[in-house]
Amino acid sequence: MSLAPLRLLSALAVIVLAASAPCVFAQTGLQVEPLANGVSVTGGGTTLQITALRDDVLRVRESHGSENHDAPLPEDASWAVLPAARTASVAVTPESDGFQTHELRVRISPDLRITVSDLAGKILQSDSRPAEWHGTAFHVYKQKYGDSHFFGLGDKPGPLDRAGEAFVMWNTDSFGWQESTDPIYKSIPYFIDDREGRALGVLFDNTWRTFFDFGKEVPDQYSFGAPNGPLDYYLMYGPDPKHVVETYAWLTGPTPLPPMWTLGFQQSRYSYYPQSQVMEIADRLRKNRIPADAIYLDIDYQDHNRPFTVDKQRFPHFAQMIHELAEKNFHVVAITDLHIAKLPNAGYAPYDSGMAGDHFVKNPDGSVYTGIVWPGPSVFPDFTQKITRQWWGTLYKGFVDDGVSGFWNDMNEPAVFTYPSKTMPDDVQHRIDEPGFKPRTAIHLEIHNVYGMENSRATHDGLLALRPNQRPFVLTRASYAGGQRYAATWTGDNSSTWNHLRMTVSQILNLGLSGFAMSGADVGGFAGSPSPDLLTRWLQLAAFQPIDRDHAAKGTRPHEPWVDGQMHEDIRRRFIDERYRLMPYLYTVAEEMSRTGLPIDRPLFLEFPHATSDGHPIDLDAGNEFLLGPDLLIAPAPSPSEVGDYEVNLPPGIWYDYWTGQQLGRRTQTVTRDLEQRDAAQPNKPLLITPKLAELPVYVREGTILPIAPLTQSTSEKPIGPLTLRVYAGDDCHGDIYLDDGKTFDYRSGQFFRQHFTCEVTADHHLVVHIAASQGSFVPWWSELRIEAMGWTPSAKELTTPTAKTPLRQEGNAWTATVAAPHVAAAMDLTLE
Ligand code: GLC
Repeated sequence: MSLAPLRLLSALAVIVLAASAPCVFAQTGLQVEPLANGVSVTGGGTTLQITALRDDVLRVRESHGSENHDAPLPEDASWAVLPAARTASVAVTPESDGFQTHELRVRISPDLRITVSDLAGKILQSDSRPAEWHGTAFHVYKQKYGDSHFFGLGDKPGPLDRAGEAFVMWNTDSFGWQESTDPIYKSIPYFIDDREGRALGVLFDNTWRTFFDFGKEVPDQYSFGAPNGPLDYYLMYGPDPKHVVETYAWLTGPTPLPPMWTLGFQQSRYSYYPQSQVMEIADRLRKNRIPADAIYLDIDYQDHNRPFTVDKQRFPHFAQMIHELAEKNFHVVAITDLHIAKLPNAGYAPYDSGMAGDHFVKNPDGSVYTGIVWPGPSVFPDFTQKITRQWWGTLYKGFVDDGVSGFWNDMNEPAVFTYPSKTMPDDVQHRIDEPGFKPRTAIHLEIHNVYGMENSRATHDGLLALRPNQRPFVLTRASYAGGQRYAATWTGDNSSTWNHLRMTVSQILNLGLSGFAMSGADVGGFAGSPSPDLLTRWLQLAAFQPIDRDHAAKGTRPHEPWVDGQMHEDIRRRFIDERYRLMPYLYTVAEEMSRTGLPIDRPLFLEFPHATSDGHPIDLDAGNEFLLGPDLLIAPAPSPSEVGDYEVNLPPGIWYDYWTGQQLGRRTQTVTRDLEQRDAAQPNKPLLITPKLAELPVYVREGTILPIAPLTQSTSEKPIGPLTLRVYAGDDCHGDIYLDDGKTFDYRSGQFFRQHFTCEVTADHHLVVHIAASQGSFVPWWSELRIEAMGWTPSAKELTTPTAKTPLRQEGNAWTATVAAPHVAAAMDLTLE
């Protein structure tokens, strides 16, 4: 198409804009085209387009040709952003130097620097220099303020706040990674800039080897860029950080509701074999009454490490084993790596059918690319083609028929052993067949960072095709932004050290902020052997993390909870038990995640964005503390190897000790970082605690109503006894429970149970718990309710329901009673007096 009509349009646009407002571009030679949803500026070889997807979401795209030749904008395509979000659009009000939405103002300077502010004029982001181009490479520079804090970027190790650090995105098999290792497995080019309590999300949607610098090189500047690919990024405005997290989920999709069993304790090892050992582990978990839901089969169950095979010597009755495990309420997760053994004429169906369908990536000369991985010479599926993903999905049929519940996609950076780069050569050819993208061949440099995500997508979609009414569970090691739609993840090959235990917290929090709300770290550490105390501490902490999977490398000492004698086993069991008791809460939080994108484990600033006087995230003063859902605060030691006391800094409000129900007193003021001031302000004084090995401090915020179940040994077991509502009286008192069958999609057609609880202390000092009528048609397991009330003292010591009166009993710091609830779906008031 000739460019003439476009030029004419732009010229007209300049006239239109000039007529409506004095234009700052008048003398610049730039062509400015106001768009219904933004603005486009062209000149000097650069085209810059800024559009509003919503009033609070902008997209910035820029292309660069040469001084005299404009280049078209990059392809309007994305692996990360959902098509509906990418094509969303709102009308804007043009201004002389940009435009305005109902929430944001965009200004472009004559040298093409962009400034985004709120409508009160508060600058949210500002280019410190124009974007810089060198051929296909570009670099974007933003002003960094002293009080800017950065979160996200997926699994990258290091402190929670990324300020002062620099990173590269290049999915890498990083066995034995340490705190300063970068890059590791995932590329999630997304971060939240939080300043003075105002949050702005930034997704830099470029799959090449991108880089980020948050003030490491120049303290008052942060920047990102890429050697190639599109200059294409999205800005998501809060100001509330929770709103940014929710908007990111709107843009890239939330983590779906997982099967409930994946929230149970998972036992893994590289590798349990033969078959009898798998059964022994399962039986021992049950015999020792350590609740568990899943057992993993790592690569040694396969015939010569060939994916989609079973070693018949080691596992002579594979399907029967899966069946027997299911009868004991265990789900099996089997590893299925993506490398397909190169075995021509050997009757190996994945290779034969893959070759027949032309499903493997190729060298530039057109031959199929071969690399060495676990099975030896291997070939690699071309996951960026829909047809290849569909073929991959069919490979699961046998295991699905056998009853394998979940699948583990490992080594999908992709890992290749033979090269120093640990991956395939840069020029390997991938074929793209994806809406938005022109069908074309792309080199590995472009596809590398999305390869693992597309692998897990193929698995996820394949499982859905095979079992349309079962929620798939896929665990992936590598991924890209948006990958949470397809798979849960873990932090790869960590180490059995105290520092790695500590790092699980910031990694899981940053993963959660980056969309990956279902994540975990190998409990006990993968590389090396944990001391008994370390393993105990790890099992305690992981009980409050989304994926609780004990896993260990070959050659390390056993990791199962019972391996260090009775004392350790009892402590470990107690924490796993607690996770199962909390399952109604955990599952309710998971359901919220699936609707809103809010992570299961949360940094404190997500719930308490205004907890500090100057608006800095309170997490920076709060050691390794984190929240499980909105209400539970977990406070592991900030230096877990040190035995001794440490400070716990609680956000403002009243807090309760989760274990004892004891009220900790009111913290009315916001927290200040200045230690002297803090001492002067008594209410903010941090708690000084010295937990024993058997203890992990957990706190509950006032006004929480926590749903708790009787202990079960797996999530498949129906709890026997009442649903407990633990009521922590206080301001804004409420809680929720969500339940469904835990495995299918029937909840989408109304088969769920959702109930809202509130509480209030009346003028005559009665504590009234209001139970709202439930929604949904699913019938839950309880027919009795047990109330445990904290933070309030009765006078008559009675609980009244519409039909009965029951005495209240004091148990520690709680006043308790159990009442019949024959009509669980109905609204009911419980009055404690
Ligand atoms: C990789 C994985 C690890 C697994 C091993 C064998 O190192 O990260 O979890 O156990 O491969 O499959």
